[in-house]
Amino acid sequence: MEFEAKSGVPSNQRTACLILGVFEKRKLPEVSHSMDQACNGQLRQLLKSGDMDGKLGQSLMLYNPQELPCKRILLVGCGAEKDFNLAAYRKVVGKAVSTLKDGGATEAVTCLPHLMPKESTTYSIFRDTVLAAEEAIYSFNQCKSNIDSSKRPLRKLTLMLEDRSELKKAVKGVDHGMAIANGVSRAKDLGNLPGNICTPSYLADQAKSMKRRSRKLKVEILEEAQMEKLGMGSLLSVSRGSRQPAKLIVMEYRGGKPKSKPVVLVGKGLTFDAGGISLKPSAGMEEMKYDMCGGASVLGVMSACLDLKLPINLVCLVPTSENLPDGAANKPGDIVTSMSGKTIEILNTDAEGRLILCDALTYAERFNPAAVIDIATLTGACVVALGKHASGLLANNDTLARELLDAGVETGDRAWQLPLWDDYQEMIDSKTADIANIGGRWAGTITAACFLSRFTKDFKWAHLDIAGSAWSSGSTKSATGRPVPLLTQLLLKRCRLDG
Ligand code: BES
Ligand code: MN
Ligand code: ZN
Repeated sequence: MEFEAKSGVPSNQRTACLILGVFEKRKLPEVSHSMDQACNGQLRQLLKSGDMDGKLGQSLMLYNPQELPCKRILLVGCGAEKDFNLAAYRKVVGKAVSTLKDGGATEAVTCLPHLMPKESTTYSIFRDTVLAAEEAIYSFNQCKSNIDSSKRPLRKLTLMLEDRSELKKAVKGVDHGMAIANGVSRAKDLGNLPGNICTPSYLADQAKSMKRRSRKLKVEILEEAQMEKLGMGSLLSVSRGSRQPAKLIVMEYRGGKPKSKPVVLVGKGLTFDAGGISLKPSAGMEEMKYDMCGGASVLGVMSACLDLKLPINLVCLVPTSENLPDGAANKPGDIVTSMSGKTIEILNTDAEGRLILCDALTYAERFNPAAVIDIATLTGACVVALGKHASGLLANNDTLARELLDAGVETGDRAWQLPLWDDYQEMIDSKTADIANIGGRWAGTITAACFLSRFTKDFKWAHLDIAGSAWSSGSTKSATGRPVPLLTQLLLKRCRLDG
């Protein structure tokens, strides 16, 4: 969708649809009130008729308002004014855009940014509007052969700005919003593609094709033979059970000073996780196509970084493989040697994410990183603990953890920290090898992070377990594109460009 920030008088806008907010108990915010006056009190009359009282999530369309050049007015409920915050704002924008999605208007003007919820700035509210609108309009149709072409999709949204002197900030907010939203959509598309299409080779090709977007980006794909040479016995033990060769995607973006240390992102790219010999139950197994969402999010962040031309050095690593049962697959009890030299006893072949991540984390060392953040749909236990709203966060550095938590709050893409105390480490001790790949029944998210922590001693490191946040199930089943907003915000803040 196209977006534009514009200052001007709302009642003068010649548009197919003008979007206005209404607070609970039919209270018109100032901008809606002046529109009401411009159309001879039609809005008040309509509200009086009882069709809508401003509850969050309500909407009401008025056609051909009097005296105005706009063809429609869409009223959207914003809930109680005193509770109006960013989360409510995002919902209101989402409701407005999904109402218009398949209607007659192909373009609309929104006055919602005038409402400026608590804690917002001009920059942030314009950025959030774009993100919430793109969220509402997203649909995944790549695998459908006949998409309904009679529908008239919303193509353009104009965002009205109240204070003309803030135009620069508004435009910046829109630009940043579009860059982040494109990254989110990219991550969603990759996540939503089925395992037979989105294979490790497919992901590698997608990464390679990003090369043409910037001369500052280098993309290299490590093949199994190269990984063999590097001694990545842990990663390769997972792909041995699959006919698809594993790949290690290495993307280096040099936007910052040559000597400044890069941020390294490592995304789990399991394009399908059947569990291997420790086979998963069949009910719901199709959702394990989403097990590459960490890798997809890393590509999404790189995409946003390219659009934003960030003055930062960023390295993205995506170890990618399938995890299937096969005669050559890992067997429970097998012991493999990782690139770090540490030996790993594989007690459960379904704990494969950590097996591919540990070698990628060891590989990350060579970039002399400022910080390493891995993103992985790592444990079912994380979904049990936090549900789908928060990503799990564990880190060996409190400043880095705080940075991630803050970026999450600011974008509504939140994480919640769990402890990484030494007390848990003994749970992954092995009798016959250096480490076991599982830690028993309890604290599964923490013991998984403990496993990774043994490979990240030499740098500042944080781990995001996105098993719950990466996709939604049920009728709205789709990848979410998280945590692209959180991570992009972190990068923007490191560049001091977030406002
Ligand atoms: N990809 C799964 C984790 C997962 C499960 C994510 C369900 C989202 C929903 C991971 O590879 C896995 O299978 N983990 C095991 C670990 C266990 C064997 C220690 C799990 O969580 O059951
Ligand atoms: Mn698994
Ligand atoms: Zn997995």
